[in-house]
Amino acid sequence: MDAPAEFANEEYALDRDLNLDPPLARDKYLLPTDSLGIPIAYLAGNSLGLQPKSTRAALDQELDSWATLAVRGHSHGAHPWMAFPSLLAEPSAAIVGAKPHEIVMMNSLTINLHMLLASFYQPRDQRRKIVMEDYAFSSDSYAIRSHVAFRGGDPDEDIIRLKPREGEDSLRTQDVITVLHQRGEEISTILFGAVNYYSGEYMDIPAITAAAHDVGAFAGWDLAHAAGNLPMNLHDWNVDFAAWCSYKYLNAGPGSVAGAFIHERHHAGTLPRLEGWWTNKPETRFVMNPVVDPLETADAWAVSNPPVLIMAPALSALEVFSDVGMPAIHARCLQLTHYMRQLISALDTQNRVHVITPSDPDRHGAQLSIRVPIEPFALIERMYQNYGVLGDARNPDIIRLAPIPMYNTFHDVWRAITALFLELDAQ
Ligand SMILES: Cc1ncc(COP(=O)(O)O)c(C=O)c1O
Repeated sequence: MDAPAEFANEEYALDRDLNLDPPLARDKYLLPTDSLGIPIAYLAGNSLGLQPKSTRAALDQELDSWATLAVRGHSHGAHPWMAFPSLLAEPSAAIVGAKPHEIVMMNSLTINLHMLLASFYQPRDQRRKIVMEDYAFSSDSYAIRSHVAFRGGDPDEDIIRLKPREGEDSLRTQDVITVLHQRGEEISTILFGAVNYYSGEYMDIPAITAAAHDVGAFAGWDLAHAAGNLPMNLHDWNVDFAAWCSYKYLNAGPGSVAGAFIHERHHAGTLPRLEGWWTNKPETRFVMNPVVDPLETADAWAVSNPPVLIMAPALSALEVFSDVGMPAIHARCLQLTHYMRQLISALDTQNRVHVITPSDPDRHGAQLSIRVPIEPFALIERMYQNYGVLGDARNPDIIRLAPIPMYNTFHDVWRAITALFLELDAQ
């Protein structure tokens, strides 16, 4: 047997971390540890990101404002609460490539999909269909089906669910575009996961958005697995709407406030919308006129007053992104995922696993989805119990490992892939 490649040695990984490619911002996060106090190799930040060290103080600050200022906190204090959404919009805009007034942070992700579909799904005559990927996250399927039913449509008829070709694991861009062109007159809206939760594939947002527009459809994207993972240019790509959660790559905490993007060309238009008092301009909000005087920004979709105690952690988490920037995050993502693939190829001498995430650097982010020959949930649990490596699993046969550019190291990747093959060997 050949000697293992140099990069398969632990020393190689440690050397890259220490000398060549140190982590971007690992010292800014609280790392979970094992019973001996050793940090675990946490590769599940695509599911729940780690807590920034700054979060507790950020939350304390708003608790203090509440304690000391009470109702005056809405307009006084370090961060007057009424203006909190705009504090979040600035860094979020840089992350997804938008103008700040195209962003509103509100609710949670699935609720935002509903709010946006209320505006961007307008079935009429022959044009009634929504196009999505067949292997979308369940909540997206449920939201879309319920919207179709809510408008009097038939979810089994009015949703086109696209599958990869036989024997393939991800959708080809050209195949998506072909369907859009073939069935264009029937299509009202497209709504895809930009990075698929299962396969980790990153779709070609500009090309598919342009094809949707060619046929007169609205283009929307679920950025749950893309926001903070990959650089995007939602504004320049002419995306109509998008929504994302902030507890994955953005590290804002469990169930934290979600994001919504509405392109500025829709702000003052005639799109229908679900409205509330935060749709109204601040200067006339208390006139109590029964007819809304709407903002002409994405904030008009906000409906309710901002949940400051979940926004404060989000603000502290987004500030790290402002410091580091998406280009550096993307460069490191490519380094870490390349190293993970190299290790898998070197250690998988018996072809026991298959990375289903596309290898083209334009088609993936930090998550690699690996098809394994044994029950994946038990495998993930054993990797955690025996080697202190935490990833996650998805039915029927996938484990997901995501080296997060902000805080993961080459050594984390080495630990994860070594643990995977030690567990497979132990079978
Ligand atoms: C792609 C996708 N859509 C929707 C959701 C649901 O998010 P929420 O519970 O914040 O609505 C998730 C959660 O992981 C997701 O990954």
